[in-house]
Amino acid sequence: MSSVTLQNVVKRFHRFTAVHEVNLEIPDGAFVTLLGPSGCGKTTNLRMIAGLLDPTEGEILIGGKRVNDVPIHKRNLGIVFQNYALFPHKTVAENVAFGLKYRDVPKAEIAGRVQKALDLVQLPDVGTRYPKALSGGQQQRIALARAIVIEPDVLLLDEPLSALDANLREDMRVELKRIQEQIGVTTVFVTHDQSEALAMSDRIVVMSAGRIEQVGTPEEVYNTPASEFVASFLGASNILPARITGQDADTVHLEDPLFGAVPVPAAKAPALAGASRAKLVLRAEKLQIVAAGAPTPGMIAAPAFVETVDYQGQTVRYFVRVGNTQMQAINMIDERPYAQGEAVQAAFRPKDCAALPES
Ligand SMILES: Nc1ncnc2c1ncn2[C@@H]1O[C@H](COP(=O)(O)OP(=O)(O)O)[C@@H](O)[C@H]1O
Ligand SMILES: [Mg+2]
Repeated sequence: MSSVTLQNVVKRFHRFTAVHEVNLEIPDGAFVTLLGPSGCGKTTNLRMIAGLLDPTEGEILIGGKRVNDVPIHKRNLGIVFQNYALFPHKTVAENVAFGLKYRDVPKAEIAGRVQKALDLVQLPDVGTRYPKALSGGQQQRIALARAIVIEPDVLLLDEPLSALDANLREDMRVELKRIQEQIGVTTVFVTHDQSEALAMSDRIVVMSAGRIEQVGTPEEVYNTPASEFVASFLGASNILPARITGQDADTVHLEDPLFGAVPVPAAKAPALAGASRAKLVLRAEKLQIVAAGAPTPGMIAAPAFVETVDYQGQTVRYFVRVGNTQMQAINMIDERPYAQGEAVQAAFRPKDCAALPES
């Protein structure tokens, strides 16, 4: 049992409140990501869980036990930060063994535990080398091995991949997730990178300005954003003001000035009871640019005008004008991209829309 719980946690630095009343339950064995822009309080939360910072208010529980007064070295945590800081004058094996030094691990067991951790990060043969002889990605794996060799109750990872270049970062994502699943350790992962969060997490905690905006599975936060902030932080979204003309069990009927009637699935339009206005949310990749005059079966379409074409190889990002509104579309390229200045149609399926309360 090593769930992590934050109850009404507040962190103030002098008069500045970095974390406001955070309530969060991280289940045993889960991979949970704190996601949000720089400065939103992710690291502050992680440092409070680690015991590196005291909360100003509230309780922190690990495995159901209050740990506010338990010092860091008694919390049995594995920690990896962005700058993974291996000891340069110790060998890889000595670096990994370091975490065991202050625990009651019999000397005879240490070498075996270190080897097991190196095997797990798929670097079984580098024990006698020094960190500087390894690549950035390998060093990051060693930092991970050092964190897991102690068999921690909770693994805390603060942007551990951000120092790596893009290709390696994607490989390490898969690798890190495999290791976490293999040892089943409760993991709190911090990143500002939405694609990293979507790819790796069981659950994502989206944060903004010290507050939790939404907690959900990657699909939930992506498809049913709880706020305009979540809709625009996770990918690109078009957000249009709309009137609510009716609601029934399955559908919320919206009326938008650009597209007319849009029936949004009720499951993707929560918290609108009694409201007369809402915001229609349409992801850029769900807005399809179609040739003028072409049929758009099952879709809602309006005439549009291509303003900008941003060619990205497999996909193209368009900014189009629909009425007086600029909208963004990210489409797969079929034959050729539409050209700047071309008259087209902007079209979408109503089932791909979500709706939010007007803030
Ligand atoms: N020791 C500190 N003293 C004063 N302000 C701090 C301190 N640590 C963090 N902050 C502020 O708290 C906010 C949240 O910081 P942080 O948790 O590091 O954000 P994130 O990790 O999401 O980028 C920021 O505005 C930051 O400047
Ligand atoms: Mg940070």
